Amino acid sequence: MTSGVATSMPGLSTAPATVARHCGTTAKPKFLAVFTAWWNTVPDSRKNGLFTGMPPPVAALLLQGTACLAALAGGALASWFGYAIGVMHFAFLSGLIAALFSRMVGLPGWWLPIQMFFLPALVWALSFGLPPSWFLAAFLILLAIYWSTFRTQVPLYLSSHKAWQALETLLPAVSAEKNFTFVDLGSGMGGVLAYLAKARPDGRYQGVESAPLPFLASWLRIGLGGYRNCQVKWGSLWSLDLSHYDVVYAYLSPVPMERLWLKAKSEMRPGSLLVSNTFAVPGHPPHDTIALDDLHRSTLYIWRM
Ligand SMILES: C[S@@+](CC[C@H](N)C(=O)[O-])C[C@H]1O[C@@H](n2cnc3c(N)ncnc32)[C@H](O)[C@@H]1O
Repeated sequence: MTSGVATSMPGLSTAPATVARHCGTTAKPKFLAVFTAWWNTVPDSRKNGLFTGMPPPVAALLLQGTACLAALAGGALASWFGYAIGVMHFAFLSGLIAALFSRMVGLPGWWLPIQMFFLPALVWALSFGLPPSWFLAAFLILLAIYWSTFRTQVPLYLSSHKAWQALETLLPAVSAEKNFTFVDLGSGMGGVLAYLAKARPDGRYQGVESAPLPFLASWLRIGLGGYRNCQVKWGSLWSLDLSHYDVVYAYLSPVPMERLWLKAKSEMRPGSLLVSNTFAVPGHPPHDTIALDDLHRSTLYIWRM
């Protein structure tokens, strides 16, 4: 069993120093060099203070608004000099500024293309003249899938088949006296539960999921599949009492791991297992790890409580 997966995601508070490092090149437009020079004079405490504790999507939205205003000012200036900016050019200018701002305040790297192409994509989609109800429907579907991700920062992505198989090897040995209990915290589409319930019918399986559409899909999957030893609940993992389970499985994100660790420490029974897919707990090395040969080269982190 080996480990080897990078588990930390840069937070808002750590990045300005990185930004300063990366911006220190000479081959850049003059305005950018001036702006960077000014930014480097701003104390880190003030840069961090702007966005400390703010959920990244809220920060991203604020930066989009600010970038839009900056692009409007740029457009007005350009037209004052006799240059007219088309809508798409405006959208790209605004996106570029939003991505630049996002980089500077230290939003994780994967936000940059989203910030860059958000407005151009919106303008492009509007050019088709689709009925507004389509946009509403798309919004509602995404809302039902991702629900409170903007707050929890735990989106939906699924454990691989290899992770299911590795989990099977971690389940307690078959016992004539009692069935073991397993819970999937944030059970998504119910894949983990359905697989294990079939592979090891001597266990009792539970899942808790907060997003409505994945919950509904997993509820149907388990109900229609006739899994008698398996159940999913709609709700928050934070209101579940972990003392009821022999194995607790979580595939979340780096954000809730510290809190999950504290909850597990205070609630889980001695000898029970906490297994986290991909995300470690800073400062608490696992007792064991399983490196998975799956698409993401995931690692299972295992703690015996
Ligand atoms: C990365 S997915 C993992 C899905 C599934 N466990 C698997 O391994 O395939 C994380 C899931 O946790 C759910 N989630 C996030 N925060 C939650 C919370 N506080 N309570 C319950 N579910 C939550 C998300 O909606 C998402 O479906």
